[in-house]
Amino acid sequence: MPHSVRAVVARAKGEPVSLVTIEVPDPGPGEVLVTILACGVCHTDLHYREGAINDEFPFLLGHEASGIIEEVGDGVTNVAPGDFVILNWRAVCGECRSCRRGRPWYCFDTHNAIRKMTLDGVELSPALGIGAFAEKTLVAAGQATKVDPAASPEAAGLVGCGIMAGLGAAMNTGGVGRGDSVAVFGCGGVGNAAIAGARLAGAHTIIGIDIDARKLDLAREFGATHTVDSSREDPIEAVRALTDGNGVDVAIEAVGLPETYEQAFFARDLAGTVVLVGVPNPTMKIELPMIEVFGRGGTLKSSWYGDCLPERDFPMLIDLYLQGRLDLDRFVSETIDLDQVEEAFHRMERGEVIRSVVVL
Ligand SMILES: NC(=O)c1ccc[n+]([C@@H]2O[C@H](COP(=O)([O-])OP(=O)(O)OC[C@H]3O[C@@H](n4cnc5c(N)ncnc54)[C@H](O)[C@@H]3O)[C@@H](O)[C@H]2O)c1
Ligand SMILES: [Zn+2]
Ligand SMILES: [Zn+2]
Repeated sequence: MPHSVRAVVARAKGEPVSLVTIEVPDPGPGEVLVTILACGVCHTDLHYREGAINDEFPFLLGHEASGIIEEVGDGVTNVAPGDFVILNWRAVCGECRSCRRGRPWYCFDTHNAIRKMTLDGVELSPALGIGAFAEKTLVAAGQATKVDPAASPEAAGLVGCGIMAGLGAAMNTGGVGRGDSVAVFGCGGVGNAAIAGARLAGAHTIIGIDIDARKLDLAREFGATHTVDSSREDPIEAVRALTDGNGVDVAIEAVGLPETYEQAFFARDLAGTVVLVGVPNPTMKIELPMIEVFGRGGTLKSSWYGDCLPERDFPMLIDLYLQGRLDLDRFVSETIDLDQVEEAFHRMERGEVIRSVVVL
């Protein structure tokens, strides 16, 4: 029996989202039905709504979620009804050319549910294959990762995207280690998670950069040793001044703009690493002197989902949180109802929140 549930859908490019009733099918083989407890509002949801990811409207938004497994399809063994899970958008296939080479965090063929959720008979495109601004959603079993149920659902849900993307950009992609210097451009949910990750990894100098002073206050709470307001001063000069004139070992771009990417590129030390975790739109271009790309050496990387493996990383991050070593609660600026997602987008654009979290 399909389930009729309330959900937040983006019907057309740039239009406000609407709260509607959708149909969620029973899980097929290898699928699970999840009752959503909490789902964070990530900037990527807004990118979907703006048509910046692709044109496959209508989108079922929401992808930073925790919930309880309600029903499992045939052959599912990793979770059972009643389990507390965080949803992920990297259910690795184990068979693609990347998985076979022992690099599953780049899996090129991740699993999503095959059965479709619908609105008035029209198939929905769930954001990042999840779609969790909904009372229930349907995902592939590998997209549900069991974690300690002692964690608060709001905090745990955030691990499912922004926290993992930011922490992983520093710890996995950037390879930040003991004694490194790190600069993070953009101190929203993702950037501040990168700052927290750099601190956990033992970075010596952590510079948070933003154009919004409120975000810089938060950056200091998450572990920035220095902050730079780039609406007031040149961030490249400021980073060099804080690093004996050298630049940082790892520069992380967590905005998704050409301007901040170029700042990250030039704020890095020789042989340093640039990590792009911010998502650009399809029209953006960067222009760099090729001699600088060559002459500075080092590495230019992109980070999808912090190069994470959910089964390895989510339980570990929840353990760190429960031990008091990773303050996930501080990322939750407010909790809201399902009908307040549009307003939460505006709050995000105005810089008033790091994360609004829908609680069901
Ligand atoms: N790669 C991934 O896997 C992944 C995952 C989640 C989110 N993202 C992307 O990461 C980016 C950040 O997401 P978020 O949820 O933290 O967004 P957010 O809106 O909470 O944060 C963006 C921050 O950038 C700051 N900013 C804007 N313009 C700036 C500029 N010119 N210079 C410096 N700072 C500036 C804003 O003040 C804000 O604090 C988005 O592009 C999002 O789509 C990527
Ligand atoms: Zn694979
Ligand atoms: Zn996200």
